[in-house]
Amino acid sequence: MFERFPEGFHALVQGGGRGIGLECVRQLLAAPRVGCVYATSRRPERADGLQALADAHPDRLVVVPLELTDEASIEDAAATVAARSRRLHLLFNVSGILHDNQGLAPEKKLTDVRTENLEKSFRVNAFGPLLVARAFHQLLLHREHAVLANMSARVGSIGDNGLGGWYAYRGAKAAQNMFTRGLSVELGRKSKALICVALHPGTTDTALSEPFQARVPAGKLFTAEYTAERLLAVISGLRPEDTGSFLAWDGRPIPW
Ligand SMILES: NC(=O)c1ccc[n+]([C@@H]2O[C@H](COP(=O)([O-])OP(=O)(O)OC[C@H]3O[C@@H](n4cnc5c(N)ncnc54)[C@H](OP(=O)(O)O)[C@@H]3O)[C@@H](O)[C@H]2O)c1
Repeated sequence: MFERFPEGFHALVQGGGRGIGLECVRQLLAAPRVGCVYATSRRPERADGLQALADAHPDRLVVVPLELTDEASIEDAAATVAARSRRLHLLFNVSGILHDNQGLAPEKKLTDVRTENLEKSFRVNAFGPLLVARAFHQLLLHREHAVLANMSARVGSIGDNGLGGWYAYRGAKAAQNMFTRGLSVELGRKSKALICVALHPGTTDTALSEPFQARVPAGKLFTAEYTAERLLAVISGLRPEDTGSFLAWDGRPIPW
């Protein structure tokens, strides 16, 4: 696992407090090739699973607060990481939002669309990963193998959209996809060793999918452990020619 990355490489999981992100942090810490893991969370003091991992790995896990809707928080997080690590080899933007308890819910029809919900979704799902890339990219520009992975969703594929609805989430993930492709072009000019990809995790049993799980066929709902294992395997196998692609948990390409 992770043979293309240098021995003792440094990884950062943005959104490592719960769900798929927390499992990625757990599995990265279990990989001997990984030297140091940074995990961000909006409120680390409330992220019990992450705190337990930090207690178990005090020398290899650094927990950093990061709120995606606050640019200063992103810049502060980048400064904290840069003060400890000269280089990052993996930056995985995992955070995302589909619904909340303040009125955000996937739209069933056009008349459900609300400006405040579009803004909320775009801030977290689209602007957030781009601003994180802006703040952290210098740490990824070096001669060693490096990956910037943004967590997208198949429903963000324009070509694959045959059902409609979910305007805010679909639109924000589609915008994120365009940003990822743009990053692959611009950062690719600066470093041939950096691979930028969009990833789809598959429907996974987390708080994000919980209200919609009834529609998932039996046996098709992944555990967060399985999803993290598959996504880290995809990341581990990436080659330079994969930069700018949109890949599912099984490594297969998804149409834009
Ligand atoms: N689960 C699925 O079936 C599925 C399917 C397709 C795509 N995805 C994508 O996979 C990713 C992970 O989702 P999940 O299923 O693991 O969801 P989850 O368990 O609900 O976790 C959501 C994560 O996003 C973070 N987050 C939300 N708003 C944030 C903000 N303003 N600033 C910083 N972090 C924020 C949360 O941090 P806090 O802990 O601080 O709230 C949490 O770490 C998301 O990008 C999602 O869109 C999931």
